Amino acid sequence: MNENSLTLALSKGRIFEDTLPLLKQVGIEVHDNPEHSRKLILATSEASLRLLIVRASDVPTYVQYGAADFGIAGRDILYEYSKEYSGGLYQPIDLQIAKCRLCVAVRAGFDYQKAVQKGSRLRVATKYTKITREHFAAKGVHVDIIKLYGSMELAPLTGLADAIVDIVSTGGTLKANNLVEAETVMPISSRLIVNQAALKTKAQLLQPYLDAFAQATR
Ligand code: PRP
Repeated sequence: MNENSLTLALSKGRIFEDTLPLLKQVGIEVHDNPEHSRKLILATSEASLRLLIVRASDVPTYVQYGAADFGIAGRDILYEYSKEYSGGLYQPIDLQIAKCRLCVAVRAGFDYQKAVQKGSRLRVATKYTKITREHFAAKGVHVDIIKLYGSMELAPLTGLADAIVDIVSTGGTLKANNLVEAETVMPISSRLIVNQAALKTKAQLLQPYLDAFAQATR
């Protein structure tokens, strides 16, 4: 970890796109676009700041171990991994970006309320196993959780599961696959997380970013 520079970890896609305007407000331009470039370390117009492009679920790991000084991750990711990561992370700011929701979705025509009420076991496919377990436990609904790593929408269509728990943003993916939202599990936005050691040793470098991000989201 370089003492005179900062590394920000984030994922490409929605979070990267929504972070660019925040960086711009601090006067920082990013030279590459990860959608077009294969580069994983991106330089910025500020010599002391570089970006790491990592998988969304890996952002807390990079920040926890100090390979990145700070990072931007969705509430879904932080919640799913909160127990494992709470030690080395400081979570100061809700950036109010990449807003979406975590939902239960089912095939159009599937009577979710009835399935839940009659107390039958529900098969739920998701990559958010912890959140899903807690959600249904709080409702007193018995579920068999099937862990998937992507394309969750296929599960109800193929008979693998009755329902999925996944991110919904525009609703376009559900619609294209003849699925409907049955219930909201939690609203999601992205949070800035900071390595606790960096917060002390690099306070001078970090603070202007923390202040600017906080200001930009007000
Ligand atoms: C998420 C989610 C859905 C899609 C929903 O995937 O898994 O597939 O977005 O968005 P929509 O409601 O606007 O259609 P994402 O693109 O984040 O990639 P992922 O599958 O790697 O999570």
